[in-house]
Amino acid sequence: MSQYWSKLVHSLTPYVPGEQPKLQNLVKLNTNENPYGPSPKVIAALQAEAADSLRLYPDPDSSRLKAAIAEYHGLQANQVFVGNGSDEVLAHVFQALLKHDQPLLYPDITYSFYPVYCGLYGIDFETVPLNTRFEIAIDDYLRPNGGIIFPNPNAPTGIPVALSEIERLLKANTQSVVVIDEAYVDFGTESAVSLVNQYPNVLVTHTYSKSRSLAGLRVGYAVGHAALIEALIRVKDSFNSYPIDRFAEAGAVAALQDEAYFQQTRQQVIAARDQLVLDLQGLGFEVLPSGANFIFARHPKYAGEQLAASLREQAVIVRHFKKPARITDFLRITIGNTSQNQALMQALQSIVQA
Ligand SMILES: Cc1ncc(COP(=O)(O)O)c(C=O)c1O
Repeated sequence: MSQYWSKLVHSLTPYVPGEQPKLQNLVKLNTNENPYGPSPKVIAALQAEAADSLRLYPDPDSSRLKAAIAEYHGLQANQVFVGNGSDEVLAHVFQALLKHDQPLLYPDITYSFYPVYCGLYGIDFETVPLNTRFEIAIDDYLRPNGGIIFPNPNAPTGIPVALSEIERLLKANTQSVVVIDEAYVDFGTESAVSLVNQYPNVLVTHTYSKSRSLAGLRVGYAVGHAALIEALIRVKDSFNSYPIDRFAEAGAVAALQDEAYFQQTRQQVIAARDQLVLDLQGLGFEVLPSGANFIFARHPKYAGEQLAASLREQAVIVRHFKKPARITDFLRITIGNTSQNQALMQALQSIVQA
């Protein structure tokens, strides 16, 4: 604390990201990164970019990347916004599109950055409880609001919302923007990108951090009606002209050009998830249905905090949330590669059967 801080800074409760441990040889299943490296084509593109041209600023409009994303999704370039990770894209979305007189609605159990953006930008919000099965119930969002946001699949539960339900929400809710945060959509959830040409108030955000194995590059994007994108560009150009550096643009374009690698690695993660669910159920865990690259699981006989601590003693790190009370016995476990998943199961077998 300091006398020099602004009033706003005193009032902030910043987001706390999952631990990035400095120790080697940990089985790191706590931040939903991809266990596989990026496509070799991405590495080659990054190496080619390490050149004299780095003395020049990058393209402030990231035109090449926007064109590639637009083509990938069958949209126009003016329907695409790109940013330094989807967190930055979301930050601009909150400021540009979700701050209104009525409260913003989002689930009570969801991505914990949403309340942080509300605090930063002074956005009034109301949380909408998940139902008893930990699902997002669309009917509960059919009320006056200044905007709606939720991840699909939701985080940290991993539970997807059907596309038909999202369309039902869009048909009923035409007065405010509905943001679908599809950070994990490529692991088996239906995407709402197909709805952006039909509904002018839906915005869909994606990240390169998960299914494209590029958390370290920091690229995310939003697609929606050109008028929504224009609002985001206005905020971006009032904040940072160059959020996408030369490496990020080159790597992100190359990632989209290697569809075969993308399909192969995401299918491997999906298959490993399905196996891990069976293995955990075999140990007595309850596992929520997941359309993501992580699972949310609890054991009827062990407290979540205790399980996370015991796993850590065996060099396996998973994510445990102390709040809210409804989820304190759950662990959020990222799907790893075969040896990481085996290490997790071995550790759990020794803990749970002990
Ligand atoms: C639901 C959700 N949205 C967005 C993000 C942000 O991803 P990034 O900033 O790496 O693109 C995350 C990261 O874990 C997430 O879980």
